[in-house]
Amino acid sequence: MAEIAVTAPLPGSALERLSGIHEVRVRPAGAPLGGEDMAEFAGSAVALISLLADRVDRTVFSRCPTLQVVANYAVGFNNIDVGAASEAGVWVTNTPDVLTDATADCAWALLLAVARRVLEGDRLVRSGDFSGWQPDLLLGSGLQGKNLGIVGFGRIGQAVARRGAAFGMEILYHAPRPANWTRALYFEDLDALLAESDVVSLHCPLTPDTHHLLDQRRLALLRPEAILINTSRGEVVDEPALVDALAGRRLAGAGLDVYEREPAVHPGLLSLENVVLLPHVGSATREARAAMAELAVDNVLAALSGRRPPTPVNNPVRPDSSE
Ligand code: DGY
Repeated sequence: MAEIAVTAPLPGSALERLSGIHEVRVRPAGAPLGGEDMAEFAGSAVALISLLADRVDRTVFSRCPTLQVVANYAVGFNNIDVGAASEAGVWVTNTPDVLTDATADCAWALLLAVARRVLEGDRLVRSGDFSGWQPDLLLGSGLQGKNLGIVGFGRIGQAVARRGAAFGMEILYHAPRPANWTRALYFEDLDALLAESDVVSLHCPLTPDTHHLLDQRRLALLRPEAILINTSRGEVVDEPALVDALAGRRLAGAGLDVYEREPAVHPGLLSLENVVLLPHVGSATREARAAMAELAVDNVLAALSGRRPPTPVNNPVRPDSSE
């Protein structure tokens, strides 16, 4: 039996399956781990299942020589030093596909909520001030025929594009290279896409290149009637610059599931009527979260039995493997 460390309880029954095969140590839910604390928690485990807010950095790989695999319970893996893992011969895996539709639905929920002012309407009704149907009460934006600009055209970006097409939107996208999509217009130039879009939805991974991809200059390229949706990572947007743009009505609205300094949220966002805020729940359906746990466990089991995990993000060579 090998020792496996899991940084939090996971939905579904995947950890029970793992416990039937290996010795599983699950940390009670709590603040994210990082640095020395993470190394101490991983200890002599051969596998670590981590959450997206946990940091798994070089300290862990140098202090935990028994580690063979880090299975991140997320599709994003910006919280892991993948280079250090590869140098140490440790697999890093993520949970793509199983959360694609849940996350695309969440982006769409945010978009509809902002475009049709759903939360403002909810607040009005609850306040007791709803005085009956009015021709101009809470007028929102229609989506049909508008341009949906998608930044990052991987699985989730494409799932959002399919929803946009079903709503009669024109699909524009920016990605490192064109995808095999005849119904969507490829923009190599992000600035041009931003200037052409009525809605911009972010679906790129967080990397050094995408940190503050939407900075003050690029936010200024958006149309004043545009809506920004972010279900990717908060650091992709310069949050104070976004607050300025929204407060100054240089941007019509935003739907955010992620924040630059999560779980902290810029106080300026909290008082804005034209913003809908969610607590990083993009993949939070019972189905997706259980399937993510199953995939993380499949990744661990494959790596520990010497097989290539189903969804690796690196291809490590174990330092002791013979040439
Ligand atoms: C992920 O998996 O990276 C998502 O942010 C989870 O909601």
